[in-house]
Amino acid sequence: METIKIIGSHSNSTILLGETIKNISKYIPNNAIIITDKIVNKLYNKDLKSYKIIEIDCGEKIKTIETVSKIYEKFIEYNVDRTSYICGVGGGIVCDITGFAASTYMRGLRFGFVSTTLLSQVDASVGGKNGVNFFGYKNIIGTFNQPEFVICDFSMLKTLEKKEILNGYAEIIKCSLIADSNMLEYLKSNVSQAINLDFEIIQKLVTDSIIIKSRIVNADEKEKNERRKLNFGHTIGHAIEKHYNISHGEAISIGMVVAAQLSLRRNLISTDEFTMIKNLIQSFGLPTEFLFDKTKIIEAIAMDKKRESEDIHFVFINKIGNAVIEKIKLTDLKKEIDDLC
Ligand SMILES: NC(=O)c1ccc[n+]([C@@H]2O[C@H](COP(=O)([O-])OP(=O)(O)OC[C@H]3O[C@@H](n4cnc5c(N)ncnc54)[C@H](O)[C@@H]3O)[C@@H](O)[C@H]2O)c1
Ligand SMILES: [Zn+2]
Repeated sequence: METIKIIGSHSNSTILLGETIKNISKYIPNNAIIITDKIVNKLYNKDLKSYKIIEIDCGEKIKTIETVSKIYEKFIEYNVDRTSYICGVGGGIVCDITGFAASTYMRGLRFGFVSTTLLSQVDASVGGKNGVNFFGYKNIIGTFNQPEFVICDFSMLKTLEKKEILNGYAEIIKCSLIADSNMLEYLKSNVSQAINLDFEIIQKLVTDSIIIKSRIVNADEKEKNERRKLNFGHTIGHAIEKHYNISHGEAISIGMVVAAQLSLRRNLISTDEFTMIKNLIQSFGLPTEFLFDKTKIIEAIAMDKKRESEDIHFVFINKIGNAVIEKIKLTDLKKEIDDLC
């Protein structure tokens, strides 16, 4: 098992790569409370049944303050106090909600995660951001607080639906594009093995992605500068996700292609590099084109929580494996998107 440390401003986090859910009792006390969702509970209840379990529904629609409120009610019912330990077992939604509920109840309880989707292993459970959606805006209420531990059990990925695996690959492709050209070459050479969750390939790709994310988070936990690079493809991706019923991975795949196109226009990448990026995304069965309503998308970008007054920090690729952040006027971004489509 390999471990990676995240050094947060309030607390640290240890990512346990290749640890198994069967060893969960090594990390949490017997009276810990598990928060999980219906699907994960059904699949992995055998490993959790000795704990008190709070089960939530599945899907982005339940990532709300109302769900957190129901969790608080359960905390009261279970006599949770400052000494209690909370463990989220699930994908990004469970982890984001658990981190938020644990961070806010009684001004903060100890918590950790068993991260069960590819997307949450490489992204959502790493880095200490947690929270919920509000009024249609994604993750607009939340805290920065690191889980004490994150178990990444690769064998749990075997029960994931294919579309969930692809969502994770969109973030893995993003990591390689913004930070590691060798990883991108490795991805290109192992597409089918990666999709089929070949153990060695998945272990390397999850580890490399977490190394990239942890390096960035350790340099800039609160997203003042460097951490913005992780938003590559997300400005447009989130806006698409807000208006259309498509998955996060699909939305950011389209967002990455648009951001790469804008990078090409600035001569930060060549036409060949742009084509390679598009082909790589396509080879994972992820979309690279989408007919979206430009006005709606610009409106949603204007409401992005990363916006600063009339400006937005937009992430471009400057050669493969390197990202740059540029503060651009929303009006200019609108013109550029208009020109592209
Ligand atoms: N906090 C962050 O830094 C951060 C980063 C990226 C994404 N996110 C958030 O993560 C969320 C998406 O996370 P996700 O893609 O993991 O979605 P998810 O949590 O909805 O999980 C996807 C589906 O897979 C099921 N599932 C989970 N583990 C399983 C397993 N091992 N086997 C079978 N089924 C399983 C779930 O029940 C769910 O239906 C979004 O809300 C996004 O905003 C947060
Ligand atoms: Zn993402």
